[in-house]
Amino acid sequence: MALACIAMILGSAHLLTAQPLDCEPLVPETIDNATIAKMLGKWFYIAGASQHPRTLQEMELIQNAYFFLYPTSHHPDEFLLTEVLRLKDKCVVDNSTYISVIRNNSTMIRQGSNESSLAQLIKSSSEDLMLLYHTDGNHKGLSISARTHNISTEQLEEFKTQVACLGLKEEETFYTTPKDPCPMEEGRDDKKHSVEVAEPPLD
Ligand SMILES: *[C@@H]1O[C@H](CO)[C@@H](O)[C@H](O)[C@H]1NC(C)=O
Ligand SMILES: *[C@@H]1O[C@H](CO)[C@@H](O)[C@H](O)[C@H]1NC(C)=O
Ligand SMILES: *[C@@H]1O[C@H](CO)[C@@H](O)[C@H](O)[C@H]1NC(C)=O
Ligand SMILES: *[C@@H]1O[C@H](CO)[C@@H](O)[C@H](O)[C@H]1NC(C)=O
Ligand SMILES: *[C@@H]1O[C@H](CO)[C@@H](O)[C@H](O)[C@H]1NC(C)=O
Ligand SMILES: *[C@@H]1O[C@H](CO)[C@@H](O)[C@H](O)[C@H]1NC(C)=O
Repeated sequence: MALACIAMILGSAHLLTAQPLDCEPLVPETIDNATIAKMLGKWFYIAGASQHPRTLQEMELIQNAYFFLYPTSHHPDEFLLTEVLRLKDKCVVDNSTYISVIRNNSTMIRQGSNESSLAQLIKSSSEDLMLLYHTDGNHKGLSISARTHNISTEQLEEFKTQVACLGLKEEETFYTTPKDPCPMEEGRDDKKHSVEVAEPPLD
């Protein structure tokens, strides 16, 4: 595993220039009240890598996406999730899911109407990044979201290194573009959440 990893990184060493080439293990983030509070609000999905065929198909369609984590009134370890996705030529707003947080193993479970999926929150170099390690049977995945759509080159290289270290391939990695974000649905009561809403695309 370690050797395969080094070979893979050396293979793309020209892209990583001055980056250290060693693979650090992913360290789960400690989840406490402060962590929970820092996760609230708006996030932009930046990129994702996965070995899962269905997830890959879904990721390939996502041109860009942003999401909001809202507190729930009844449980401190749950978030309501609203996602706004641009998939090729259509916009999708999904507010049907919520996330349960299992603090003792840094796990977030996304409860959809039909299915649930599971990811571990990973320590990252900045509070403005959300790094999630997804496992689904034998399939691995890693995704990165951030408070702004334009993360730094260093942060992106760090993500690429982590993806390579997990043994995920470049063709299993998809990046979003900030172009034409979808508007949130009209008429939603956002006042109590006081979040900023992206401008509708000009077309
Ligand atoms: C964390 O938040 C919960 C619910 O808001 C509260 O009951 C608990 O006392 C807090 N824990 C700490 C260590 O502040
Ligand atoms: C989701 O959006 C629909 C349509 O805007 C709204 O009727 C519903 O109350 C929302 N649900 C949640 C959980 O926010
Ligand atoms: C973590 O907490 C859950 C309940 O929230 C419990 O079912 C589980 O056994 C705990 N796991 C560990 C490793 O403590
Ligand atoms: C964390 O705990 C939950 C519930 O106890 C479990 O379903 C999940 O698989 C655990 N996550 C990891 C990464 O072990
Ligand atoms: C839920 O499952 C049903 C039956 O498997 C399927 O027809 C439907 O499209 C699924 N809904 C979502 C949101 O995935
Ligand atoms: C992202 O873009 C904003 C404005 O477009 C700029 O102020 C900020 O410095 C950029 N951040 C990075 C990390 O490039």
